[in-house]
Amino acid sequence: MLFHAVFALTVVAEVNTGAKLVAQNGCQACHGATFRGSAPYPALYGIEHHRTRPQIIAAIINPKAPMPNYGFTAAQAGDIADYLAGLDGGAAADQPVITVAPAHPSGYADVTVRFPGVAPKRVTAVASMAMGSMSMHSPNVTLHATSDPHLYTGRVEFSMSGAWTIHIVYDGKTIDRPIVTGQ
Ligand code: HEC
Repeated sequence: MLFHAVFALTVVAEVNTGAKLVAQNGCQACHGATFRGSAPYPALYGIEHHRTRPQIIAAIINPKAPMPNYGFTAAQAGDIADYLAGLDGGAAADQPVITVAPAHPSGYADVTVRFPGVAPKRVTAVASMAMGSMSMHSPNVTLHATSDPHLYTGRVEFSMSGAWTIHIVYDGKTIDRPIVTGQ
């Protein structure tokens, strides 16, 4: 309990620092009341999807005119970057959440992928196991949509026990979930 309380306090303090610096320095005068920008002022909402944290910090510490140089320290710029990156829930909110059941499968597992935003048209899953320099693959399955538009599910089969990686493929991206079968 104590741990939770301390952690929550720390997070609140950090968020407040960035939020306060932004509010006190009139960033919204140029970048818009909801940080969505309008030419020539870039949107800051969702910035973490196309700029890294160091890039955001650099843009704040070494701004290009007409953006003013506020003389922020690196730590302050970091707090601001974290605040800006969290405006839309943050990059992590984009990450699909993969659930595998049972957690320690033997012959097969039901894989469920939840997409937080707009779900892709097609989602496939394939499992692979490294065997020396070769790798073995399970049959590629197309996950099927469910009544929940964010949720895809399907069954992946494992031909033997061991350390597999389930690869979820959608929109040209792949996310991997390691799993050990046969336990
Ligand atoms: C006078 C208008 C103005 C104000 C006030 C202003 N900015 Fe900017 N800002 C700009 C402009 C213009 C750019 C684009 C500069 C360029 O790259 O040409 C920019 C760029 C940025 C970028 C980089 C965006 C990207 O996509 O690369 C960040 C981050 C940023 N501003 C944050 C802030 C923060 C935080 C504040 C307040 C502390 C602030 N700005 C205040 C005009 C402003």
